[in-house]
Formats: sequence, structure tokens, C-alpha cells
Amino acid sequence: MRKIYVYSLLTFMFLSVGLVLNCGKSKEGENAQVNATDTSEASKADLLAKGKEVYEVNCASCHGPNGAGDGPAGAALNPKPRNFALADGWKNGKTKEGIIKTLKEGITGSGMVAYPHLEAEYEALAEYVLSFK
Ligand code: HEC
Repeated sequence: MRKIYVYSLLTFMFLSVGLVLNCGKSKEGENAQVNATDTSEASKADLLAKGKEVYEVNCASCHGPNGAGDGPAGAALNPKPRNFALADGWKNGKTKEGIIKTLKEGITGSGMVAYPHLEAEYEALAEYVLSFK
């Protein structure tokens, strides 16, 4: 009689431990997923913030604070600085790759020079340029 009591107590303990461990596991899983979403959204926000910072120092003089191509240093240029809100007329394409190519090589025969010293910020700049609507 005593033995049976001990066995059932042991079984109960194992079951409880198993339940507790399982709960812990599925909670961890959920948290990991939430964190992954947070991180990618945060890093996109970081990228845009970085892009804005670098853009305002290096690009806004020609392309304007809102990317409309109306910065004072661009007023006398021909061709005019690109209006980033427009979809047409992009020589290298309105894509991340196209913008990075422009920053690497510049646009020959225009006021758009290459920006090799900003290479570390190309991705951030491209994201920011694409964010003008
Ligand atoms: C001295 C003025 C000037 C500055 C400063 C300048 N740009 Fe430009 N940018 C231009 C001009 C002019 C064009 C248009 C070139 C053309 O149409 O041939 C242009 C075009 C572009 C284009 C469009 C390329 C395409 O595919 O047609 C991008 C993207 C661009 N600039 C990004 C930038 C970024 C990012 C910066 C800052 C790092 C910057 N520009 C700084 C004058 C400038």
C-alpha cells in the first residue's frame, strides 16, 4: 500500500515537472518571435534615422530637405537634382541597388558626384531616399 502511494507521488511529480518545462519552452518560443519582429522593425527605424542624418548634411543642399530636388545648391544645375518623390526619369533606377550605384559612381555630366567616403552609409541613404513619397 505504501509503495503504491510513493509510486503515484513520483509519477505525479514527473508529470508536473514535464508540464512546467513544456510551458517554459513554448513561452520562450513566443518571446523569441516577438523579439525577432521588434529587432527588424527597430533596425529599419535605425537605418532611416541614420540615413536622414547623413542626407541632411550631404544631400539636402541640392535635393532639398524633403527630397523634392529643390535645394538651393541645385537651383542653377542642369540637369536639376532628382526629385525623389517622382517615379520617372531615374538613370540608375529608383531601387536600392540603383541608388547605391549612383552613390558609388556618380552621374557623369551632372552635378551628382560619387560619394565613396560615405560607403558605410549607402544602405541607410538608399532607404531614406526611397522613403520620400
Ligand atoms: C551638388 C548637388 C548635389 C548633391 C550635394 C547631391 N546630389 Fe544627387 N543629384 C544631383 C543631380 C544634379 C542629379 C541629377 C542627375 C541627372 O539627372 O543626371 C542627382 C541625382 C541623384 C539621384 C538619382 C540618380 C538616378 O538614378 O537618376 C540620386 C539617387 C541621388 N542624386 C542621391 C544623392 C544622395 C544620396 C546625395 C547625398 C549623399 C546626393 N544625391 C547629393 C545633385 C546633387
